[in-house]
Amino acid sequence: MPLSRAPLSPVLARQATYPFVRLNEAAQRKREEGVDVIDFGTGDPREPTDPLIRQALVDGLRDRMGYPLTQGLPELRGAIAAWIERRFGASLDPDAQVVPTLGSKEAIFSFAQAVVDPDGGKDTVAYTEPGYPVYERGALFAGARPLPVPLRERDGFLPDLDAIEPETWARLAVFWVNYPNNPTAAVAPLSFYERLAALARAHGFVLASDEAYTELWFEEPPPSALQLDDLTNVAVFNTLSKRSSMTGYRSGFVAGDEALVTALRAFRPTVGTAPQEFVQRASVAAWGDERHVEEARARYGRKRALFLDLFRRKGVRVAGSAATMYLWLEVPGGGSSEAFAERLLEHGVVVAPGAYLGASGEGYVRLALVPDEQECARAVAILEEVL
Ligand SMILES: Cc1ncc(COP(=O)(O)O)c(C=O)c1O
Repeated sequence: MPLSRAPLSPVLARQATYPFVRLNEAAQRKREEGVDVIDFGTGDPREPTDPLIRQALVDGLRDRMGYPLTQGLPELRGAIAAWIERRFGASLDPDAQVVPTLGSKEAIFSFAQAVVDPDGGKDTVAYTEPGYPVYERGALFAGARPLPVPLRERDGFLPDLDAIEPETWARLAVFWVNYPNNPTAAVAPLSFYERLAALARAHGFVLASDEAYTELWFEEPPPSALQLDDLTNVAVFNTLSKRSSMTGYRSGFVAGDEALVTALRAFRPTVGTAPQEFVQRASVAAWGDERHVEEARARYGRKRALFLDLFRRKGVRVAGSAATMYLWLEVPGGGSSEAFAERLLEHGVVVAPGAYLGASGEGYVRLALVPDEQECARAVAILEEVL
């Protein structure tokens, strides 16, 4: 960072470059050399957003658009609760147990600020690694103690809850889990949520379940923590970004424990607003439609099948990878994940080194199936030669 006389948060000053910035820069250098780069690095779906959703956004424009209220439009809360009921069979009160968010990133980042209480002994935020970096950043900026919990293949990429000491449970304010998981693409059974929710109630922390990828599945729909009989101390975060290819719209929700939703409704007006009203209208259309989601799943499924076939033929082991838009591959030959990613980039194929996503990600790379089917076929032809 350039030298400045202005004060700077020490958390920000210590922050390493977001690893994907490095990855994107390396890919950009390759493009400047004239290589036609195919980017499987970041998980931004490049699918067009369904016309039904785009039309709802346009129809939602008004002469004057005031501040969107934190609680969002009743139609949106209703559409979210109805989707939760259809998808997970859970019946939630849309007015008391659902709050719309601007995608899920901001809500994930700021959640620690709403619940961490160092003076009350609740100073620790646990999250799994390798993983989405925002749980840790949110904890650090809230002044909490971050506690990374490794995901290991031998445990099915679930955190080893037995390895956590009683004193640590007592200090926890939040335990973040993310299934289907980014980056390992593993799925958690409902029994895992049952156990963690019981621990959350026993020790007084929040089970925060980031479920951004529940709709990208291939064999059977993954469960949600919303299916638990008792949602006390449970907060579920979901988003239209991946389900409906709406990363640029910024629309998601937090749902679960009524007391937590009430706390968020008190907290969130200080931080910002609900999504723009026209985005909320588009979101009502998106949550209400499954056809476009089925089509997206089918497209991801075809791309996935291409690569699974290639990796099987080439003896590249695919770990985890039951759902999501990601494939989690063991680095063939056992070298570092960064060196393997650099080798593929030489041939114009960008993948994310597992080590960028957390120490326990070393030895793996993540492939985000976001390029279109033609690009995927081209990448398979390249990898056919390279692997
Ligand atoms: C695990 C996980 N959670 C949450 C998000 C945030 O998505 P959004 O803010 O677009 O809803 C992402 C985005 O990549 C993610 O990978």
